[in-house]
Amino acid sequence: MAYQATATAPVNIAVIKYWGKRDTALILPTNSSLSVTLDQDHLRSTTTSRADAAFQGPDRLWLNGKEEEIKDGGRLWVCIKELRAWRREMEESDSALPKLSEWPLRIASYNNFPTAAGLASSASGLAALVSSLSTLYALPQSASELSRIARQGSGSACRSLFGGFVAWREGTSPDGSDSLAEQVEPASHWPEMQALICVVSDAKKGTSSTSGMQRTVATSPLLSARLAGVPARMKAMESAITSRDFPAFAELTMADSNQFHAVCLDTSPPIFYLNDVSRAIIALVEEINRANTTPIAAYTFDAGPNAVIYAQAKDMPVIITAVKKFFPTEQEFTDPLKVGEAPLPQGFNDTVVRHGGWEKGAVKALIHTRVGDGPRVLGESDSLLGENGLPK
Ligand code: DP6
Repeated sequence: MAYQATATAPVNIAVIKYWGKRDTALILPTNSSLSVTLDQDHLRSTTTSRADAAFQGPDRLWLNGKEEEIKDGGRLWVCIKELRAWRREMEESDSALPKLSEWPLRIASYNNFPTAAGLASSASGLAALVSSLSTLYALPQSASELSRIARQGSGSACRSLFGGFVAWREGTSPDGSDSLAEQVEPASHWPEMQALICVVSDAKKGTSSTSGMQRTVATSPLLSARLAGVPARMKAMESAITSRDFPAFAELTMADSNQFHAVCLDTSPPIFYLNDVSRAIIALVEEINRANTTPIAAYTFDAGPNAVIYAQAKDMPVIITAVKKFFPTEQEFTDPLKVGEAPLPQGFNDTVVRHGGWEKGAVKALIHTRVGDGPRVLGESDSLLGENGLPK
């Protein structure tokens, strides 16, 4: 007898960044963070988990068709172990339940966006894993409780268990029990919120967030100044979101991204995630906002050169026009949201971007999406596993 569940989970992009751990084993952060969940219609991870008494040997997992080792004591192993323990508790108190916790697992996960795009897939991937396993095990735990497990897979993954606008509360308990995600507002609160992801070419292999943030904690004197300011910034961001105050949201988002990259530069040896194209995108957005007098766009950058530009639906046509003009993409852009294009604001100064624009392909591709909901459970027909328990 086999039981299985398939779930999808979204990507999230932080507007108040998580950067630093106070406990590297439990993944407890040095500061609270806040993100926007992006629409799974465009970007998602899908995971199928199956438990079968007939499976032999240890648990196995495939990512995009390639088998990954589930290392003893590693992050994946911890997530599976904790969810299985919750299932075991249920089975112990109700003997009528099938003993799924005793059966080996087969797990297949798939991202619908290329890993080569440089978009972080660990957050959506781990959230999809936790969602599919918790569905398979019929766990009663809330999304916040599940976020504590996802957090131990990858810190930012805890925020992908919710849709809309999501806070990861750092918590104070040494055991991590209060370090979890909660929804600040659902996607329906501010459906006009959209994101344009500019996939920036990058030949070199960057520093991973896991090792980069530890180096910052160990060496950056500026980090303490950042940490002292985050609580007030979190408060201000939550109120900007609750009151749908885009200019305040934009100022806070850009300031936090810039401060995060400042502590990276302050790390020894320094970490450079932004490149010349990233900085040119910053200059472009700053100039659009200046010419417009109030901010209509907000850039933010994670541990790589890709830009995510947040803007409301009504302003996105201007942003798309500007980005296409100065950064002609390699891959042709067809907009799934079909917002169209619009002229740049009066008084916009072309000279902020060099030579009237960059060579084709400096920005490889554009992905236009919007705020979206949390994990979804799919049906049997969406399973990623074949009858033999191997990826289809
Ligand atoms: C810059 O969640 O990838 O994207 O907890 O070590 O897995 P680990 O790190 P990860 O770090 C994300 C860093 C960031 C900011 C953010 O998403 O808040």
